Amino acid sequence: MAKDGNKSEWKEFVWNPRTREFLGRTASSWGLIFLFYLVFYLFLAGLFALTMYIMLQTLDDHKPTWQDRLSTPGLVIRPHADETFEIVYTIQETESWDMFPRALDTFLTPYNDTLQAQKNNECTPDQYFLQEDSGDVKNNPKRSCQFNRTILDACSGLQDRSYGYQDGKPCIIIKLNRVIGLKPGKNGQAPSITCGAKKYKVGKDEWKDDADKIGELAYYPSSGTFNLMYYPYYGKKAQVNYSQPLVAIKFLNITVNEDVNIECKVHADNIPVGSERDKFAGRVSFKLRINSNN
Ligand SMILES: *[C@@H]1O[C@H](CO)[C@@H](O)[C@H](O)[C@H]1NC(C)=O
Ligand SMILES: *[C@@H]1O[C@H](CO)[C@@H](O)[C@H](O)[C@H]1NC(C)=O
Ligand SMILES: *[C@@H]1O[C@H](CO)[C@@H](O)[C@H](O)[C@H]1NC(C)=O
Ligand SMILES: *[C@@H]1O[C@H](CO)[C@@H](O)[C@H](O)[C@H]1NC(C)=O
Repeated sequence: MAKDGNKSEWKEFVWNPRTREFLGRTASSWGLIFLFYLVFYLFLAGLFALTMYIMLQTLDDHKPTWQDRLSTPGLVIRPHADETFEIVYTIQETESWDMFPRALDTFLTPYNDTLQAQKNNECTPDQYFLQEDSGDVKNNPKRSCQFNRTILDACSGLQDRSYGYQDGKPCIIIKLNRVIGLKPGKNGQAPSITCGAKKYKVGKDEWKDDADKIGELAYYPSSGTFNLMYYPYYGKKAQVNYSQPLVAIKFLNITVNEDVNIECKVHADNIPVGSERDKFAGRVSFKLRINSNN
């Protein structure tokens, strides 16, 4: 009996024909609840859309709103040294170095003279190539200046396919990380690269360097500079065909069978050369060791 009573109670709860209640509520009560939630969610969705719309209005398609990390441009070398920044090979073992010229070939493909002439402008050297927007009127797309591979001369890989690796006179190519809007250099002085011996610690308060092993260096272009016409950079979307300027360094007479620690720095009045631990400082260091069986 009790069981039957429970059952009919339950049934009555689901649908009570007397009071016409479904799950304890009348149709109008249910209706009000649905109406309430409908309005509530519509309101939330509207609020979300409005916030999103306002946010997007403040974003510029052509310029990142935040770029704190790279306000100081870092230097990067090619070929990619591994994590330890070491380029170590043996002249007589082709397979120990042939990945370097191959990497440089790939890296320099976009600098092909013909390609550069097709895509980019011949700019007036030694001055910034300014293409500012006038107020809200965007001056896009922005043109870029030609950087021909042939500028790198003996390090262009065009005459010497091995970039000097084969005869123990290797080339290293250096570029400055892109920083939007940066006008490096001051008073018409282009930023320049110099490489030399890196000082390293050999004991407490004892420092050493490999200055006597580096030998003579050649720079391409010979000034070792990044011409001002390649700046400022306006960003990937605004300046579609931009080619970063390069400086190549060739080690003409480096001592073989020895570790040589090298450091390259950028010199420009307004690029701080930070501490060694600062990844984005205007310097890069690496170890070069060329082994020779002769
Ligand atoms: C540069 O590009 C042109 C045409 O695209 C091609 O004929 C030439 O071989 C390329 N030069 C090099 C060095 O890759
Ligand atoms: C780059 O090379 C092309 C093709 O040889 C040439 O027409 C152009 O003047 C060169 N550009 C510069 C800036 O030297
Ligand atoms: C970019 O390069 C392409 C050819 O690859 C050219 O048609 C286009 O006009 C260039 N755009 C700009 C803005 O320089
Ligand atoms: C290369 O450097 C060594 C010392 O490291 C020096 O004795 C030699 O004369 C140099 N050769 C040339 C061609 O500069």
